[in-house]
Amino acid sequence: MRIAIGCDHAGIELKPAIRVLLEKRGDTILDMGTDSSESVDYPEYAARVAHAVVIGTADRGILICGTGLGMAIAANKVRGARAVTLSEPYSARMARAHNDANIMTLGSRVIGPELAQMIVETFLTTDFEGGRHQRRVAKLETPSDTGSGEHP
Ligand code: RB5
Repeated sequence: MRIAIGCDHAGIELKPAIRVLLEKRGDTILDMGTDSSESVDYPEYAARVAHAVVIGTADRGILICGTGLGMAIAANKVRGARAVTLSEPYSARMARAHNDANIMTLGSRVIGPELAQMIVETFLTTDFEGGRHQRRVAKLETPSDTGSGEHP
C-alpha cells in the first residue's frame, strides 16, 4: 500500500517505529514530515497527508502528534478525509470495517511503539464491510444536509 505519514515535533519520537513496520510490510512510504524535533504546527502536516489520501496519491494516511487529537481535527477539515484517533486495536478494526476511515492518528504521548504498531497493522489489514455502512459513510460527506437540527 502507499501510506502517507506525517507528524509534528511531538510525534517525531513514534514515527520511526511506524516506519519500521511499514517497511517490513513492504508498503510505499510517503513521508510528509516533519523531520526534526523543532516545534511546528500540526495542522500543516495533517493537511498534507489528508490531501494526499483524498486525491489518491496515498491509499491511507497516518498522522502522529502528542495526543493524535489535533491531527484528527485538522485532517477532518479536508473533504473526503475520515480521520480517527486510535489507541487500541478493536477501534482500529471497527474504524475500517464500519467507518471506512482512511486516516488514522496516534498520540506519541499516549501509547508506546509496540501498541502503535499493532494498531497500524490492524488498520491497514481490515477491509471496509460496505453494505449498510456504505450508506452511512456516504452521509458523512454532506454533514450539514443530513438533518434539520430538530429532534424527530
Ligand atoms: C504539541 O505540543 C501538541 O499540542 C500536539 O502535538 C498535539 O498533541 C495536538 O493535538
